[in-house]
Amino acid sequence: MLSATATLDPAFRVAPVSRRTFGSFVEHLGRCVYTGIHEPGHPTADADGFRGDVLALTRELGVSTVRYPGGNFVSGYRWEDGVGPIEQRPRRRDLAWHTTEPNTVGLDEFARWTRKAQVEPMLAINLGTRGVVEALDVLEYANLPAGSALADQRVENGSKEPHGVRMWCLGNEMDGPWQVGHKTAAEYGRLAAETARAMRMLDRDLELVACGSSHSRMPTFASWEAEVLTETYDQVDFVSLHAYYEPVDGDVGSFLASNADMDRMIEAVIVTADHVGAKLRSNKKIMLSFDEWNVWYASRFHDIPPREDWPVAPRQLEDQYDVTDAVVVGSLLISLLRHSDRVTSAAQAQLVNVIAPIMTEPGGPAWRQTIFHPFALTSRHARGDVLRIEPDSPRYETARYGDVPVLDAVATWDEEARAATVLAVNRDQEQPLTLEVDVRALPVDVVREALTLADDDRSARNTAEEPDRVVPRPNTTAQLTDGRLRVELPPVSWSVLRLGVAA
Ligand code: AHR
Repeated sequence: MLSATATLDPAFRVAPVSRRTFGSFVEHLGRCVYTGIHEPGHPTADADGFRGDVLALTRELGVSTVRYPGGNFVSGYRWEDGVGPIEQRPRRRDLAWHTTEPNTVGLDEFARWTRKAQVEPMLAINLGTRGVVEALDVLEYANLPAGSALADQRVENGSKEPHGVRMWCLGNEMDGPWQVGHKTAAEYGRLAAETARAMRMLDRDLELVACGSSHSRMPTFASWEAEVLTETYDQVDFVSLHAYYEPVDGDVGSFLASNADMDRMIEAVIVTADHVGAKLRSNKKIMLSFDEWNVWYASRFHDIPPREDWPVAPRQLEDQYDVTDAVVVGSLLISLLRHSDRVTSAAQAQLVNVIAPIMTEPGGPAWRQTIFHPFALTSRHARGDVLRIEPDSPRYETARYGDVPVLDAVATWDEEARAATVLAVNRDQEQPLTLEVDVRALPVDVVREALTLADDDRSARNTAEEPDRVVPRPNTTAQLTDGRLRVELPPVSWSVLRLGVAA
């Protein structure tokens, strides 16, 4: 039997949990928008055509922010196509995903949906094929009170009050050669800086995100961030990070350690941003927006030949997630949380149907994929301050990321509610791991809840027919005695352990 230890002490505080860590992403891609969030005629659809079942699951997922409308899609998008009378909106060829965009859903519909879903909108602007003036136009349309042409147009289109969007992404993955309007760091850095400067002249109360690298294996990783931030440092609040993980050549040990890469990527971007800040003699700290992350079986997607039929909302990137995928998603959330001092915004990509925790069938049900559960439970229970937990764990060797601990964990402490939450992953594929957590520094004396997601069949998935095949189940081994929490974590498992004070 493997064993590991950790210590919870409110003095080991990293930072408050940022609610924006629990963001998600809705792109005009595949069936994320059409038959995902929007399906007029669906039995649960409301008067605006939004699926009520998806709205309910979005709220249950505990999503805080939703990034929109892309993604690669945004780099060829004309936002004005998506406003005004729906019957007058143009159909456009989308070069990013080779589909036809009907523009039935646009900015005003999305803003309405965010209010129903009780989430904060985060808009991306097109800096691929467009520039400063179009950024100012969409900002005026979205955020300015009546009194100028585009703000008045919004009012005429039925949204009297400004949408009040605070967070704006200055383009998407502009370092990627696949991006429509791909740019060098120098080209993008200047454009992003001037766009940000102009946007702030129109609306002072913005939080702006400069594009970082599309992933840590990009040849320009780190030098891209350094060059872009040198241009934009005073104008932006965040730099973005994107990362997707999948097993390569059946190497599950490395896949389970995916967040070792996420940790390194975050730490590399922090030192790069701080290096630029030091060179500029700046006191300002740039925060990190990890605004695309997930498990994505991207290698399967690249096998699909290009289509010539330009379909509307085809089935694209509809990954079906299993138990191991859910454990990896749980551990990626652990990484984001333990970097809460700098990662204060994140978005799992995406929300529905497209590499998503929520799946739907047109005219049929919506259900929770396996990865829904660690996200929902982490969002619900990670409250208060994130704590460093000083773990001591056996380690194992991975082909991709070297030596990694078998245990991955983080904890939060909510002083007001006097509640602690431990999130823990056992990455071992054969053996259970006994975890002993010293909680003597906290006034807790009872295990309120212990849930574990694991299964003898790690390829088990949830489907429309069997939506609850994989769910977190009570872990009856969890015990808290004499200031020590002891729990057995099954092989390849993710757990949430909630501690409190007996009444
Ligand atoms: O989320 C899917 C795609 O992944 C996004 O459109 C793009 O930004 C990233 O490459």
